[in-house]
Amino acid sequence: MEPARILLTIGGGIAAYKVPELLRALQKQGHAVRCAATPAALRFVSPLALQSLSGEPVRTALFDPSEESEIDHIRLADWADLVIVAPATADLLAKMAHGLADDLVTAVLLATRAQVLVAPAMNVNMWTHSATQQNLETLRSRGVLVIGPESGELACGWEGAGRMSEPADIAEAASLRLGTESLQGHTVLVTAGGTAEAIDPVRRITNRSSGKMGFAVAEQAARRGARVILVAGVTSLTTPAGVVRLDVESAAEMRDAVLAELAGATIVIKAAAVADFTPEIVEEGKIKKEGLADQSSLVLRLVTTPDILSEVCGLKEDRVVVGFAAESDNVVEEARRKILRKGCDLMVANDVSRVDAGFDVDTNAVFFVTPDGEVEETGLLSKQEIASQILDRVEKLQGERLE
Ligand code: PMT
Repeated sequence: MEPARILLTIGGGIAAYKVPELLRALQKQGHAVRCAATPAALRFVSPLALQSLSGEPVRTALFDPSEESEIDHIRLADWADLVIVAPATADLLAKMAHGLADDLVTAVLLATRAQVLVAPAMNVNMWTHSATQQNLETLRSRGVLVIGPESGELACGWEGAGRMSEPADIAEAASLRLGTESLQGHTVLVTAGGTAEAIDPVRRITNRSSGKMGFAVAEQAARRGARVILVAGVTSLTTPAGVVRLDVESAAEMRDAVLAELAGATIVIKAAAVADFTPEIVEEGKIKKEGLADQSSLVLRLVTTPDILSEVCGLKEDRVVVGFAAESDNVVEEARRKILRKGCDLMVANDVSRVDAGFDVDTNAVFFVTPDGEVEETGLLSKQEIASQILDRVEKLQGERLE
């Protein structure tokens, strides 16, 4: 992995005492690390310790002429490839969610274009408070990555969720999230969005897929250095940077596009919501009420579409193939059945009856299901984060194949 530039921003919580350990862990991975701390953070961790370890002055003040002359806060925000917030206090999360910038750390967090990873730490009641959870939701929907918190005994004397993740785990998450180029040399073929099946020249049968899940997979794969081909159905989303996009409409067109690109692909991820049925006959002219035998109803005969995922799995060779399962009942059981029937390496099952997951929202909560029936649950995360976790698993499967 290429060494990266990491800005470690420190909030004012007791867990700040673990930050020197985190700094060392990041340095051991070869990264250049600079620190910026809120005034409250400096009550818990010594700036001298951070400066001695990082070899750089610790930034604390927004309007300090000597600090700003060294590197001003906008250049500091631009310098970073990744910004870590640890500990991310309830106050810092709230300020980030609302775009406040009343000190150096929050100003940098608002100005940076880099990926941001937050490691929350606070009292369990502050953590579970709906204000904190809503702020977190907002941040996740903007693509901020979240690690932890862990559950256990808290410094305040309470038990429960609120402990900052261990420094080694945060460092590991940082490495995975950096532009690690870990998929360099791979071609990832992604499908996204819903298909639209024509009834006549003006009418279509489609579904609620927005394309957000598949576009997030494409974006994250590109960030990891892969060549990405995105076969997009019906969606209004813009193409992520560095991604080659092929627009299709029907299930049949999606099948043709996927099969045409399959030979060059080493990884296939099928997030599209493909219609299972399509009208048997597409009328050449607009269907008019007056032309119907019974003007009170129209009977459409639907036939099944090609199952693209099964077809791809039949031609799998040493590719890693990931399918999605959109379920509303018995999510895990259905996904277990589906993975065996379709023959892919990993099934990402989501409950599409939820309002905060599945179709047309920025978040998702999935179960990763393997062919031998193992299940791992993610909880509610941003689609970008789910995409990242899918790719972590794909990389692991690739690695196992090479062993
Ligand atoms: O696009 P969003 O708004 O972000 O919503 C995301 C999503 C809910 C669409 C996504 O997370 C998801 O679940 N995608 C799969 C939807 C689906 O078609 O699920 P399924 O269980 O019906 O199909 C299982 C798998 O077979 C899927 O990988 C699907 O792409 C594939 N399939 C299905 C039918 C078909 N004819 N050909 C296929 O390849």
